[in-house]
Amino acid sequence: MAFQLTTEREDQLAEIFARYPNKMAACLPVLHLAQEQHGWLSEEVMAWAATTVGVSTAHILGVATFYSLYRTHPAGKHHVWVCRTLSCALNGADRLIEHCEKRLGIQVGETTADGAVSLHTAECLASCGTAPMMQIDREYHENLTFEKVDVLLDRLRKP
Ligand code: FES
Repeated sequence: MAFQLTTEREDQLAEIFARYPNKMAACLPVLHLAQEQHGWLSEEVMAWAATTVGVSTAHILGVATFYSLYRTHPAGKHHVWVCRTLSCALNGADRLIEHCEKRLGIQVGETTADGAVSLHTAECLASCGTAPMMQIDREYHENLTFEKVDVLLDRLRKP
């Protein structure tokens, strides 16, 4: 069955289009909307997006693979992004990443077997003064310690 937005997201789509001069210009938020619903940008979702904004599927694939916030493979329910850029690196990001890998039992780029968490690294998330930090889904978590990270990660895996 072809991808379709829910009624609520159809309304959001109309709001998005109202903010842009043309449909093509709304490509990025349209992809976010579809990904929010489907969890990732499958071929079917990308075909829908291409038709919706009036571009080729090749254009959509180019956009989806250029930006790291778009997922072109199935992923976990939650996304953990650990910043690894200078301030965070100087404040132990490498050790924090290793700790997350160990705690979750996966490597960066992988998803836990229960489908709960995907682990990623990120370039500077503009919270350098509170390094080391990570973003979990849409929220920032700053001045991290291993203990704080354990609490956060364990919370994500509770049913
Ligand atoms: S270096 Fe990590 S938030 Fe800027």
